[in-house]
Amino acid sequence: MTAESSAGARIHVVRFAPAKLNLTLAVIGRRSDGYHSLHSVMVPLSLGDALTVSTAPSTAWRDTLRVTGLALTTTPDNLVFKAVAAVRAAIAETWPGAPAVPPPLAAHLAKRIPIAAGLGGGSSDAAAAIAAALAVWSAGLSPEATAVLAASLGSDVPFFLAGGAALVTGRGELVQPLGDIEGSSQNGESPAVLLVTPQLPVATAAVFKSYAGGTRLVGSRALEISERLVEAMRSGIPGPDLYRRLPELAHANDLLAAASSIAPGLNGFMAALEKAIGRPVCLSGSGPTLWSLYPNLAEARKAVRFVRLAAVNGTLPPVGNGEPFVAATTIAGRSMPPSVSIPEGTTGTIRPRTVHNGFDAGAHGPDEPAGRPANSNGEEPR
Ligand code: C5P
Repeated sequence: MTAESSAGARIHVVRFAPAKLNLTLAVIGRRSDGYHSLHSVMVPLSLGDALTVSTAPSTAWRDTLRVTGLALTTTPDNLVFKAVAAVRAAIAETWPGAPAVPPPLAAHLAKRIPIAAGLGGGSSDAAAAIAAALAVWSAGLSPEATAVLAASLGSDVPFFLAGGAALVTGRGELVQPLGDIEGSSQNGESPAVLLVTPQLPVATAAVFKSYAGGTRLVGSRALEISERLVEAMRSGIPGPDLYRRLPELAHANDLLAAASSIAPGLNGFMAALEKAIGRPVCLSGSGPTLWSLYPNLAEARKAVRFVRLAAVNGTLPPVGNGEPFVAATTIAGRSMPPSVSIPEGTTGTIRPRTVHNGFDAGAHGPDEPAGRPANSNGEEPR
């Protein structure tokens, strides 16, 4: 089968691209390639982007990307373009249409994950683009080749390709699945996550550089806390158990001091946020996203309203370029049904559908078009 279905119809594939949270992030050494070795427990969130990838109209001569929702540039360095180009090169000789080059793709990204925030949005989009491009071109790649391709795009991409909670080691390329966070036996609810992203520019490379230069906490317990969490999660951890660990998770990110050195307002903002919500606050990845846990989504949503108010009334110090992004979300499970290709009907109506990798069940209603932009506050739809 070529990139178009036998009837010549265009094909559309929709992937949900979840954000991630680093529950822990221990830096355990420096590698000879300059990267740092990590020991990090990462979980996907229900908050995410939606990526629709289609065969481009026959007049198209290059890949295109349209972004709605949060503002994001669509220059060639966007990871969606890079992922599509890398897949095209990797399958050029083996895809069903060879020796022709896999044809241009048209992508639409509904962006909901804050950018450069420590939530892995760009990497998740890249992983979604790899899977979607392979599906649109009806091509396959060995797991090994896919893993190499993913790691070449960014350290977090292999985690997103694997899907589900995982222990991530190496520079990010070694992904060991962990059990899901389970709902409590009483009410079936797993802990909910409050996300607060101050609009501070924090480049991952700069944070690691600062860490390498010595901006780090002496006597860090991050590795010990991370290892304990992995032990507990190997067989699936009950939600309340994770919730009880929040105080120690606040000490489990080795990049905190370095991130604060890059974004000087971060420390004060974090302290004020902790005081305002009365619970420990943690840093995700290299920041600047701060997060905390709540017993359920209703309480996390209450906290969202409270934090927005605190940002406006001055309880939280103003930092960066405007009000922070504040959202409530949940930790997503593992289920990853295969991607589905949808040939366009002869009526000419494009009816892309979501739900090709399970995470998005709560993000889009069954009849909503994929790629619906976030609601105005970036929260999960209720
Ligand atoms: O791989 P990624 O593009 O996400 O990494 C951005 C930068 O962060 C790298 O260029 C590197 O400087 C730093 N990094 C690191 N160790 C890691 C991951 C990233 O030093 N494990």
